[in-house]
Amino acid sequence: MATKMISILALGLFASPAIAAPVSNAELADPMYGPIPGESPIYSDYYGAAAPFPGNITEPIMPTGSGPAGPDDLLFQNLLAAEWVIFSFYQAGAEIFNESSFTALGVPNTTYQRILEIRNNEAGHLRIFQNQISANSIKPGACKYQFPITGPESFLALSTLIEISSMAFLTGLVQQAQLNSSRGAITAIGEVESRHNTWSLIDIWNVSPFTGPADTVFPYANEILDTTNGFVVPGSCPKNNPPYPYPSQRLPTLTASSNTTSLTPGSQIGLNFSNPENQPTFEQGQDYYVVFFHGVDNVTVPLNPNDLNVIVPTQFETKGVIIAVVADTPGAPTLDSVIAGPGIILEQVPELAVALAT
Ligand SMILES: *[C@@H]1O[C@H](CO)[C@@H](O)[C@H](O)[C@H]1NC(C)=O
Ligand SMILES: *[C@@H]1O[C@H](CO)[C@@H](O)[C@H](O)[C@H]1NC(C)=O
Ligand SMILES: *[C@@H]1O[C@H](CO)[C@@H](O)[C@H](O)[C@H]1NC(C)=O
Ligand SMILES: *[C@@H]1O[C@H](CO)[C@@H](O)[C@H](O)[C@H]1NC(C)=O
Ligand SMILES: *[C@@H]1O[C@H](CO)[C@@H](O)[C@H](O)[C@H]1NC(C)=O
Ligand SMILES: *[C@@H]1O[C@H](CO)[C@@H](O)[C@H](O)[C@H]1NC(C)=O
Ligand SMILES: *[C@@H]1O[C@H](CO)[C@@H](O)[C@H](O)[C@H]1NC(C)=O
Repeated sequence: MATKMISILALGLFASPAIAAPVSNAELADPMYGPIPGESPIYSDYYGAAAPFPGNITEPIMPTGSGPAGPDDLLFQNLLAAEWVIFSFYQAGAEIFNESSFTALGVPNTTYQRILEIRNNEAGHLRIFQNQISANSIKPGACKYQFPITGPESFLALSTLIEISSMAFLTGLVQQAQLNSSRGAITAIGEVESRHNTWSLIDIWNVSPFTGPADTVFPYANEILDTTNGFVVPGSCPKNNPPYPYPSQRLPTLTASSNTTSLTPGSQIGLNFSNPENQPTFEQGQDYYVVFFHGVDNVTVPLNPNDLNVIVPTQFETKGVIIAVVADTPGAPTLDSVIAGPGIILEQVPELAVALAT
């Protein structure tokens, strides 16, 4: 079974065009300004290549109030910064490709249209997250991003990876939310990411869209968000943006070693900490583990730091998403017990079997 790893080869540099905003900060800060998500059709049925609102205004929105931060402001600042990565990815696709790029691959002739529609939904998420942050906190703007897009095929593969990653980090963020309304909003956004992924599983990958009874719950959302920093051009973020994600453990990145041939349950995988400047320290006398999350459960496998080969738990269904971390405690029961990762594995498309490698 062929395994395709996605690795970062920054072949293109894309950023939403920085257009000087003719609108004031006070206008942008007003949730009633501009097209309203759920009311305006631009977040669904706009088919231009140019970025729709608010994706065409990339500066952060500065606070217009001076009181205490809202209870979920930090959560939505992290989520908005992640959304700029995701929106900018689809916006790059909208600008680089056209309908023929995808029909040439033999995928349905609606593919480019769907990419634009997903891009529009992501623009709606930008606005929803801006509006969820109170007037007393900064609403982060866009950085410049680089994505390993080498053609329409790699774009579609990376889009699937981005959707499943979003679904996974939203299961963690919902656990951090203080307000019930935030929990509802995060769930509703996760459902939309899942629709995007369902579309691609059916139309692009030609597989069953079902992933078993539960998608994967992963509690440490910021660890996934941090992996998206691999797409950020270093030093390119607006200087007023808060650190992203916050807080961050800056964990070593975890990928499968290049001789790994399958990522399905029962397969042997080699671990690679692919950033030479950020390697885990394994202490003498301490036991280490790889904890695999799938559905609502996790399974722990002992790790020998001198060997770094482990078997993906055989008891998992070959469906949905498996998330792997290296931990110093079985079950990785606390944030601090995680020492590297996460690596994200999509089981639904065996010939793709994508692992997050940023
Ligand atoms: C941003 O796009 C919206 C439509 O989505 C448009 O009405 C608005 O003029 C654009 N703003 C800027 C600053 O380009
Ligand atoms: C897509 O772009 C290519 C290359 O620029 C062009 O030849 C082709 O006509 C375009 N197709 C459509 C449907 O616009
Ligand atoms: C798209 O494909 C469908 C069938 O798959 C076909 O009926 C339709 O004419 C095609 N549309 C275009 C614009 O090529
Ligand atoms: C959240 O929902 C629960 C259950 O309905 C309710 O008891 C609680 O008061 C709500 N919390 C807030 C802050 O509204
Ligand atoms: C580990 O990752 C690095 C960086 O991507 C790569 O150069 C190296 O070949 C990988 N090692 C293995 C064994 O896969
Ligand atoms: C990959 O190479 C390592 C080091 O040679 C070896 O221990 C491991 O068994 C290999 N893995 C696979 C899946 O062949
Ligand atoms: C993993 O599963 C174990 C056993 O059910 C549980 O104690 C632990 O809290 C789980 N880890 C996380 C991070 O949920």
